[in-house]
Amino acid sequence: MAAATFTPDGQTRLYGLFGYPVHGSLSPAFQNAGFRALGINALYLGFPVRPDQFAIAVRGLVAAGLAGFNLTVPFKVEILPLLEAVTPEAQAIGAVNTVRCDADAQGVRLTGTNTDGLGFLRSLERDLHYDPRGKRVLLLGAGGAARGIAHALLSAGAGKLWIANRTAVRAAALVQALRPAYPRAQIEALALDGTAGLRPQLLVNSTTVGMGDQKSPVRLAAVQVEEAVADIVYHSAETPLLREARSLGLACTNGIGMLLYQGCAAFEFWLSRPAPESAMHEALLAALRARQ
Ligand code: ATR
Repeated sequence: MAAATFTPDGQTRLYGLFGYPVHGSLSPAFQNAGFRALGINALYLGFPVRPDQFAIAVRGLVAAGLAGFNLTVPFKVEILPLLEAVTPEAQAIGAVNTVRCDADAQGVRLTGTNTDGLGFLRSLERDLHYDPRGKRVLLLGAGGAARGIAHALLSAGAGKLWIANRTAVRAAALVQALRPAYPRAQIEALALDGTAGLRPQLLVNSTTVGMGDQKSPVRLAAVQVEEAVADIVYHSAETPLLREARSLGLACTNGIGMLLYQGCAAFEFWLSRPAPESAMHEALLAALRARQ
């Protein structure tokens, strides 16, 4: 494996992921593969940081020359007060998953963005050849992942967006939060058990159902999905939801693409050059296989 031959030196640029925990993350595997594929002298590590040490850890590593980083649970909102600037995407979503550290004579400027929505859209495009513009879309879930995906779908011109959640008030709160940014969009909140007969063209699962269990958040046949299903769960190649989608002849994709492409978009945000997608994809699949 090429990564084994890499030897850091005094000029190696450091990148990483802040989270708690981070030991299960696949990002180091595919970000380092991206660096190696392009011959970039950089290293990506996981930083497991106790929440009460977060600000001190970020400031310390930035002072030591950290070039850029990702954030995962529970730091995507915690990072906001430490940033000098955020992109419009991150502003709209209210959460940051990627930060670039730009150093000059005055100091270091931290700019945050959110690549989750972009990663999701790129996965729809590359894996499903699907354009959500003008489509009726049912999004299951109203957590952090749903927020990024809802913004992505609305900014891509989805014609109608239903957000269905087990806890219906959470879906209603997300719809309320989205409305000011998309005043003309058709957005509606529902309970998960109120989705029968909705006839969406695209269904997106952003709930954690199917992650470790053999359950499905809804029956696709009852919802009467017409064209495609995207499940953001990536731990198993085929969740029960995707199995049903395949049996119904619907186009479908799991969450590997979203995970990969949000990472590729982060790579591009840091380095201002195209990410080596196929090398990163291969490394991600190898890391997933090694875990099974
Ligand atoms: P994430 O940041 O990954 O979106 P989250 O914020 O914890 O994680 O959200 C998890 C989502 O999965 C929520 O929409 C949650 O529904 P509730 O808001 O009702 O908790 C949904 N979810 C988790 N377990 C579920 C289950 N067994 N059935 C249906 N929905 C479930």
